[in-house]
Amino acid sequence: MKAIELRNKYLKFFEEKNHKIISGAPLIPENDPTVLFTTAGMQPLVPYLTGQTHPEGKRLVDYQKCLRTDDIDEVGDNRHLTFFEMLGNWSLGDYFRQDSIRYSYEFLTKELNIPSDSISVTCFAGDNVAPKDEEAARIWEECGILKENIYFLGKEHNWWGPAGETGPCGPDTEIFLDTGAPKCSDHCDPSCDCGKYVEIWNNVFMEYNKKEDGTYEKLSQKNVDTGMGIERMIFLLQGKNNVFETELFMPIINKVKEMSKLPNDASLRIIADHLRASALLVCDGVVPSNLGQGYILRRLIRRCIRHLRKVDFDVENIEVIIDTLIDSLKEMYPELEKNRENVIYQIKKEKNRFMNTLVKGEKEFYKIINNLKEKNVDIIDGKTLFRLYDTFGFPPEVTAELAKENNFKVDMDGYKLCFEEHQEKSRQGAAGVFKGGLADHSEQTTKYHTATHLLLESLQRILGPHVMQKGSNITAERMRFDFTNPEKVQKDVLQKVEDMVNEQIDKGLVVTCEEMQLEEARQKGAKGVFDSKYGQRVKVYTIGDFSKEICGGPHVDNTSKLNHIKIIKEEAVSSGVRRIKAVFVEN
Ligand code: ALA
Repeated sequence: MKAIELRNKYLKFFEEKNHKIISGAPLIPENDPTVLFTTAGMQPLVPYLTGQTHPEGKRLVDYQKCLRTDDIDEVGDNRHLTFFEMLGNWSLGDYFRQDSIRYSYEFLTKELNIPSDSISVTCFAGDNVAPKDEEAARIWEECGILKENIYFLGKEHNWWGPAGETGPCGPDTEIFLDTGAPKCSDHCDPSCDCGKYVEIWNNVFMEYNKKEDGTYEKLSQKNVDTGMGIERMIFLLQGKNNVFETELFMPIINKVKEMSKLPNDASLRIIADHLRASALLVCDGVVPSNLGQGYILRRLIRRCIRHLRKVDFDVENIEVIIDTLIDSLKEMYPELEKNRENVIYQIKKEKNRFMNTLVKGEKEFYKIINNLKEKNVDIIDGKTLFRLYDTFGFPPEVTAELAKENNFKVDMDGYKLCFEEHQEKSRQGAAGVFKGGLADHSEQTTKYHTATHLLLESLQRILGPHVMQKGSNITAERMRFDFTNPEKVQKDVLQKVEDMVNEQIDKGLVVTCEEMQLEEARQKGAKGVFDSKYGQRVKVYTIGDFSKEICGGPHVDNTSKLNHIKIIKEEAVSSGVRRIKAVFVEN
């Protein structure tokens, strides 16, 4: 089955279940200046999820073009993409768990003929906002899902939304297909990142609203919001190994391969993904620039060019592959054909701009790292990154990638500071440029949260057990951590702490969460505040064999999701209390 047939089957199936087919929104949200891109099918429907009446009724179905830049560094594995298409169906205060799950099961097993026993599902394990979703599990079981294929997971896995800081959200049940690959360990299950289980569909039981103060209230109606990633579903249905082997990417990958001297899989995938995303962004009116959506488009095109050069493809021939891309995708996205000329024009123009500066910039880059090597420094500071960007048109992400290839790190946060200072000076305001979609903010703070656990443990191991946490404050830009220590922590000691944290990040330690009685947590050696009342249930987060702490979460599920940290400041807060500020840098 081809992707377009899956799309049509999906629409028809839900149409037969009394859903109205609606048009998806453009990639650039129409009435929402606070987000850069449409990242999920529900985004244009927020007013209707929160109570307004939709003109088409209470049951809707559509396909939605989405762009998520938070996965950009993972493009190249078997399933991550920047642009993707989401098939979705909604109940706006109509049916709920029962029908939603039954429809999904029927579609997968009857329409797509997927054997029931290759489907695994996860349900919400419960917390203080919403109870354990026994009902969803029961319905799945009644449908025919094997009991051993039903898992309960916590909020970091089975709670979706809000898309921004506030708005509709709720527990979800996620549907996974087993690729048939061997389990990566005894604990391998759908929450594992190894790629054995691929999430194909997510049904959100959207009955909560997250408020600005972080608390939740019930929405006026119970909604269902679902999303199926068409690229993932189709590669599994076709028995392929990854999304790039499907008809959505193969023509362009083959063409680039044919015209390159040094093809490698990761670069070919990045080129195919970024070119597709770029072309569709141009169709929705974005032009490369230094701000907002235009900046993301610029990054995508320039990264694509960098990889074309890496595989030794003559970029003067880029039009050939843009034509291949449009020809192979125009049936699914007729806007590509309509905008063919403009797509070619914008991408070529940006290619020319980039090429004019690239040669000079690369020369400058190698001069910089040779100087640093002489000084035994392995990180490029923010000012230098900014100079490369400002004077040589080198986006910092491109520098970061080049740096990585040459075993250098980059101080991205330092860069951002320089950039913002500069923007403020020229009164342009840099707001939003680095966000790349709303999901970034909370993901970044979650990552810093996990890094904080690694930091506390490292401080205790290196400075001694007297180190106690006194406070912690996290923003999307940095972590701040206060702890007891009688004196200033010397530079070389800080370096050891930093190294220990980064070692744990490199090890890719699994982060697990267990709920238990406070007393049990104490016995198991979990760190944390023990002065709460006896009998209280707490969550204990364990990071490999390195750290165990009582904490509400959320955390990432594996330390490999974190970038390396860099301690940028150590100072006194009060007598006997020190403060560390640290930021993520490129590994
Ligand atoms: N909004 C849900 C998601 O994006 C369906 O996964």
